[in-house]
Amino acid sequence: MRVLLLGGNGQVGRELRRTLPALGEVTVATRDGAGADMAADFDAPPALQALVQRLAPDVVVNAAAYTAVDRAESEPEAAFRVNAEAPAALARACAVTGALLLHYSTDYVFDGGNARPYREDDPAAPLGVYGASKWAGEEAIRAGGARHAILRTAWVYAAHGRNFLRTMLQLAAEREELRVVADQIGAPTPAAWIAEATAHILRRGVPASGTWHLTAAGGDQLARVRRGDHGRGAGSGSAGALPARAADYQRRLPNPGAAAGVFGAGHREAARRFRPRAPGLARRAARHRARTGPGALKALRRA
Ligand SMILES: NC(=O)c1ccc[n+]([C@@H]2O[C@H](COP(=O)([O-])OP(=O)(O)OC[C@H]3O[C@@H](n4cnc5c(N)ncnc54)[C@H](OP(=O)(O)O)[C@@H]3O)[C@@H](O)[C@H]2O)c1
Repeated sequence: MRVLLLGGNGQVGRELRRTLPALGEVTVATRDGAGADMAADFDAPPALQALVQRLAPDVVVNAAAYTAVDRAESEPEAAFRVNAEAPAALARACAVTGALLLHYSTDYVFDGGNARPYREDDPAAPLGVYGASKWAGEEAIRAGGARHAILRTAWVYAAHGRNFLRTMLQLAAEREELRVVADQIGAPTPAAWIAEATAHILRRGVPASGTWHLTAAGGDQLARVRRGDHGRGAGSGSAGALPARAADYQRRLPNPGAAAGVFGAGHREAARRFRPRAPGLARRAARHRARTGPGALKALRRA
């Protein structure tokens, strides 16, 4: 299998560099080509399309995205170019060459108003530019005529890159007291697991195009995830984590996991939906329940 990995420097992209080579020949592209086989600039969608058509891989895995949720509000053109126009160009190229396009999306396509975990067929209602741009990317891929698998995930963390756990470790080391959001619920999902699940899904094959939720099992308040650091020697003499409301931070974008709407039905559900195509996913899912509290931080320190 010949795989083209786009976005090889991101949280998920770096983990995919580890898991995809087991499938065959992997060509890794990053924004400027540094530390990779080539450059693939999502700010130039037509060139991206030409690149994919020239390489004609069997599978294109798109881990690149404009992920600066707050900044997207003041840079909508940039967010839509990378998250919608570029995936549309990828879908056009894959439709021409017959490649499978595996793409990642987000819980931000929803508004967080659900009292139950979101299902794949729940109506999208993005609240901000980032979510709207990711939803537009999904729609463009579905309309583009290529075979595709869209995997929506949430609350991604890794030992590298920018994520909430690393931010909390840093803040805990710097501050005496932390105020942490207590009214958001989500399923912290390791980038490493997303990469393993991706390789597993590709190995088993994706006979029909579709959209699936892929998050760690369970879900929890951000405050509990963050409280994992409390008193566990992360470098702070922290007085502890005080609960706060997301609105206290005057974020312009309500987190879609707010209002008790845990995104995704978890690994087990993803595994059920993929069965019988990916029977091993259920077993793997069981080993990768969403880690909250000390578990998540311990895992991060071990990584
Ligand atoms: N992070 C989360 O919590 C989260 C939650 C739900 C869904 N997702 C989705 O999961 C996927 C992977 O996310 P992630 O956490 O791995 O994101 P990430 O760490 O922010 O990585 C995104 C990658 O995209 C690249 N990129 C951005 N603009 C580009 C451009 N114009 N041209 C080429 N490359 C560009 C970045 O390159 P540079 O390294 O050069 O900046 C970076 O390597 C994305 O589709 C994201 O929307 C993420």
